[in-house]
Amino acid sequence: MNKVTTATFQAMKNKGERITMLTAYDSTFAKILDNAGVEALLVGDSLGMVVQGHTNTIPVTIEDIIYHTRCVTRVTRRAHVMADMPFMSYQASIDQALINAGRCLKEGGAESIKVEGGEELVETVAAMTSAGIPVCAHIGLKPQTVHQMGGYKIQGKTLFSSEQLIAEARMFEEAGAFSLLLEGIVAETALEITRSVDIPTIGIGSGVGCDGQVLVVYDMLGLNNDFAPKFVKKYACLQDVITGAVGKYISEVKEAEFPGEEHSFHRDLQIVRKTSKL
Ligand code: KIV
Repeated sequence: MNKVTTATFQAMKNKGERITMLTAYDSTFAKILDNAGVEALLVGDSLGMVVQGHTNTIPVTIEDIIYHTRCVTRVTRRAHVMADMPFMSYQASIDQALINAGRCLKEGGAESIKVEGGEELVETVAAMTSAGIPVCAHIGLKPQTVHQMGGYKIQGKTLFSSEQLIAEARMFEEAGAFSLLLEGIVAETALEITRSVDIPTIGIGSGVGCDGQVLVVYDMLGLNNDFAPKFVKKYACLQDVITGAVGKYISEVKEAEFPGEEHSFHRDLQIVRKTSKL
């Protein structure tokens, strides 16, 4: 089994082979996804919403990301593991970005990191890559700036904004980023970006023209029936499966049907006889 590396992603793009990425936050999911054959696991700051119950990703800390990255890397054998740097763990200064990105690799065991940004972040990405930290630059819809954007808005709709995104993509490639994550970008622009750079692009809500795709694993497995955005395809309805299983458990406990004989332990008769002789 060959470990998937940043070089594997580049080779896949060169061969026109699509890259698959899913989010993972714990060892149970990581093991299942790794064994299923997904090439990359992103320890996304989406954990703030799907694990911690916040309404956005802003409260997530670098400690949270390192903890969850450790849970994932401990069991992952083949997939590449990318840690998502949370809001304000890399924006304050290049030194802060280097220290926190280094912690994701040293303490979390991640093999690369992801940062959200535009032109303002190019110097930081260059510093991180020259320090030997593989960087994925996340452009387009950047959830960490939800308040600045005034909501989650699809990007690259106009000629001006699509030219701006292409320019950002090229700047990050030049700064040494090994990949780009394109979120919430209209399909035509995402395709143009993908054709404008040599490094692989991984899309979410950005059409089929990207070199790979990523989804939040809880969304694609249907763990939340209240969340159904256009860009998510539900490959299973696990909320319904879990609700059904838990309902059955509740009724079997109430009816004293569980635990059955096969789930129960009994006294060893030989021990009982010996004890009673004494
Ligand atoms: O945090 C996250 O899950 C992300 C998505 C784009 C996949 O960044």
